[in-house]
Amino acid sequence: MQKWFQDAKLGIFIHYGIYAVDGVSESWSFYNGRISYEEYMKQLNGFTASRFNAEKWADLIEKSGARYAVLTTKHHDGVALWDTQYSDLNVVKRTPANRDIVREYAEAIREKGIYLGMYFSLIDWSHPDYPNVFEGGRVPEDLSGVNPHSSPVDGVQDQEKWKKFLEFNNNQLREILTNYGKVDLLWFDGDWERSAEQWNLPEFKHYLQSFNSDIIINSRLQGYGDYKTPEQGIPITRPEGPWEFCTTINTSWGYVPTDHKYKSLHQIIRMFCDCISMGGNMLLDIGPREDGTIDKRQEDILLGLGAWIRTHEEAVFGTGEGIMSRYYLGGSTVSEDRKTLYLFVYDNPKERVCIKGLCNKIRKITVLHSGKELAHEIHGGVPWFNIPGTTWIRMTPEDTHEQVTVLKLELEEELEMYGGSGAVVTHN
Ligand code: GLC
Repeated sequence: MQKWFQDAKLGIFIHYGIYAVDGVSESWSFYNGRISYEEYMKQLNGFTASRFNAEKWADLIEKSGARYAVLTTKHHDGVALWDTQYSDLNVVKRTPANRDIVREYAEAIREKGIYLGMYFSLIDWSHPDYPNVFEGGRVPEDLSGVNPHSSPVDGVQDQEKWKKFLEFNNNQLREILTNYGKVDLLWFDGDWERSAEQWNLPEFKHYLQSFNSDIIINSRLQGYGDYKTPEQGIPITRPEGPWEFCTTINTSWGYVPTDHKYKSLHQIIRMFCDCISMGGNMLLDIGPREDGTIDKRQEDILLGLGAWIRTHEEAVFGTGEGIMSRYYLGGSTVSEDRKTLYLFVYDNPKERVCIKGLCNKIRKITVLHSGKELAHEIHGGVPWFNIPGTTWIRMTPEDTHEQVTVLKLELEEELEMYGGSGAVVTHN
């Protein structure tokens, strides 16, 4: 795992595709029969990308504070956003846009020094060779529920066609990995429809690494990836190893104009703090309109998040997972040298903020955005048993930031927390 990924903290996910034309859900709308496949594919005629400006996207991503970006180069619908030789089903050949979106995106992102990520759906519900086997080769007893886009409705499997499909995927991935300069991250999706053996793992992974040995691959690869990707629901227990939480700003990945269920900037910042407090990244999604422009509500969230990150940069970058919420009822991060603890204060404190179990002497406490120094006192504790008291930091609503407030605790030594269950004091 490359260090840059764990240091990145924030990535921007972009779901851009023909589904933005009618504002229907990406690929799933036809798969689940909400509209017909023909109706869905008619959107090809309306995909213009007429105001698509990759530099503007890259500029916004940079302003959001994100260090990497991930674009849906091909979703489950099989429509490629680049000029692929291996299928006409791409926006260059089949839509009025007639341009290689992936190329423009890759150039603009790299130009800004942002790490380049490509989402690629392993599933291709448009490819004739795709629906020829069942997951793990297991033919269901009842064929009536088989979806014609993913498996053979007659129950007859064709391994040759499946092999051809794998070749097709390999070819498209070679294009993605060699035609656009160095790709830093591959974000797979849809591995669940086939087994590791059917995806030809681990050979498939070696094939991908042969183009760039540094490449980071997410774990939607039947466990063969490099990091976990919980989605939409924030983990309560820290996922093991490197991880990234992906989430939408409203409830849709792609552009759905009727979806007004937006999270507020405050909620997004809190979610971000939740992720970095548990040592993870957040991959925040935007869904551009078919013309390539971005809804102001999404843009404002990215800009607001970026402004907050810039003000609180040292609590975000160069830090790692914080302390348990049993010590402090909020999020936190710890500096690399472990001598600074950053506390995220989500709500208005009444008079004091409390932290338990802290063994270290505090040198100084400041409110990060204002630089104001805060006083603290310690109550209780049994120093001769090494049981620390409770630290009370004096803080009132006037000290807060309009979003999440960060307190910087500079410690004398490396952070040390007490985790015991107390003791009877026998030597007073
Ligand atoms: C799910 C959905 C897909 C979406 C992805 C993003 O896997 O199938 O539509 O692109 O999540 O994480």
